[in-house]
Amino acid sequence: MEITKYTFPIHGDDRGQLVAIEEMKDIPFKIKRVYYMYDTGTLVSRGHHAHKCLEQILICVHGSCKILLDDGNDKETLVLDKPYEGLYIANDIWREMFDFSEDAVLLVLASQYYDENDYIRDYEKFLEYCGRVR
Ligand code: TYD
Repeated sequence: MEITKYTFPIHGDDRGQLVAIEEMKDIPFKIKRVYYMYDTGTLVSRGHHAHKCLEQILICVHGSCKILLDDGNDKETLVLDKPYEGLYIANDIWREMFDFSEDAVLLVLASQYYDENDYIRDYEKFLEYCGRVR
C-alpha cells in the first residue's frame, strides 16, 4: 500500500515553532472541515470505518497515536508523533486510531463536510465495496 506522509515546513525561531498548512499547496485538497480528538482514553480504539468520498490529513499536533490503514489487501500501522507531519488518507481506506498517549491531540483536515452516508462502518461491507471479498 502506498503511504503518503507530508512533512510541513516549520517556521521556527527563538520564540518557538509554527506550522502553516494551505489547501492545494501543502495538501492536495480544499479543506471543508477541521476536527480534532483529545482526552482519548489510552485503551480506546477509534475510527473503524472507511469513506467513499473523503480525503483527510491526520496530524498528531501533540502527543502520539498509531494509525492502522487497510486498503482491503494490505494493512500498515504508522506512528504519528510529530506536529509537523501529516498522514494522507484517500477514499476507500479502512482506518483505526489507537495507542493514544494521554496528551494526544489528533487534528484532522477533511475535504468534505460531515456526512454519515459517506461512512462504511462494517468491515465486510468495506471489502465488498472494494471488490475484494476473499
Ligand atoms: P465518530 O464517527 O464515532 O468518531 P470516530 O470515527 O473517531 O470513531 O464520531 C463521534 C461523534 O462525532 C459522532 O456522533 C459524529 C460526530 N461527528 C460530527 O458531528 N462531525 C464530524 O466531523 C465528525 C468526525 C464526527
